[in-house]
Amino acid sequence: MEIFYTSKELKERLSEIKGRNEIIGFVPTMGSLHSGHGTLISHARNASDVVVLSIYVNPTQFDNQHDFKAYPNAMQADLDLARSLGVDVVFSPKTEDMYEGVPNANSVDYGALTAAFEGSKRKGHFDGVVAIVRRLFQIINPEKAFFGEKDLQQLAVIETLCKREFAQLEIVRCPLVRDVDGLALSSRNVRLNPKERIIALELNRTLNRLKAAVNESVEGSVDLEAERSALESLDDLELEYLAIIDAESFEEVGEEKWNEGHAVIAAQVGSVRLIDNLFMG
Ligand code: PAF
Repeated sequence: MEIFYTSKELKERLSEIKGRNEIIGFVPTMGSLHSGHGTLISHARNASDVVVLSIYVNPTQFDNQHDFKAYPNAMQADLDLARSLGVDVVFSPKTEDMYEGVPNANSVDYGALTAAFEGSKRKGHFDGVVAIVRRLFQIINPEKAFFGEKDLQQLAVIETLCKREFAQLEIVRCPLVRDVDGLALSSRNVRLNPKERIIALELNRTLNRLKAAVNESVEGSVDLEAERSALESLDDLELEYLAIIDAESFEEVGEEKWNEGHAVIAAQVGSVRLIDNLFMG
């Protein structure tokens, strides 16, 4: 496995690979890899000749400096996992290489997709995601890029970016991965204490209850408001949103189409912000 710390050296290496017409599969990450990332890497390994993994904690996508500073770092473990899963190239750049001068991201407007839910709760978040993903796509110029459905709204934003600016690039959706207890895997989970971890399971339980109710098709059995109130009554959990949306537009769907939508949820548990989602059909 080769490791590159500058875009210049990486580009030189990738131009040799491209000269051999090999398919480059790209997995962008912020490190602290878990088995959710492992799934992305495995999908990339199966579908590409050369797998490139980036590890870079992007400052412009954090609306909260505490969250940025507390973002876990596990470089050696990340490299070991990447090697064991057959990654060919790791790119771990410095901020000066990713941004000229002070890190900054232009505003992105894809309608509800960038304005609602994550967009409204984390101001500027998608501006930062689009800025860094665009920069990484420009440097790596992959044939395929792999993103997890855990960040469902980010995935839809990236797909829109691709349609507009990287028409040749295929975005591959990879399923959300859960721990045995049902908690959606996230690098932030390591910051939950044992009590918070038990409370965090309510996110997934709520989504499962909603799915069961949607599929029961008994009028009135889906009570989003009651689910919201139940979550809001919990100590140590601060609900940000719970809704059933269309996974492409991120607009809320009407009751008659709930079984075609995804339930999305975000909550703060202790000092950790968690998101989760589930297809309702
Ligand atoms: O999903 C992530 O880990 C990040 O948002 C990404 C896509 C690597 C951009 O920094």
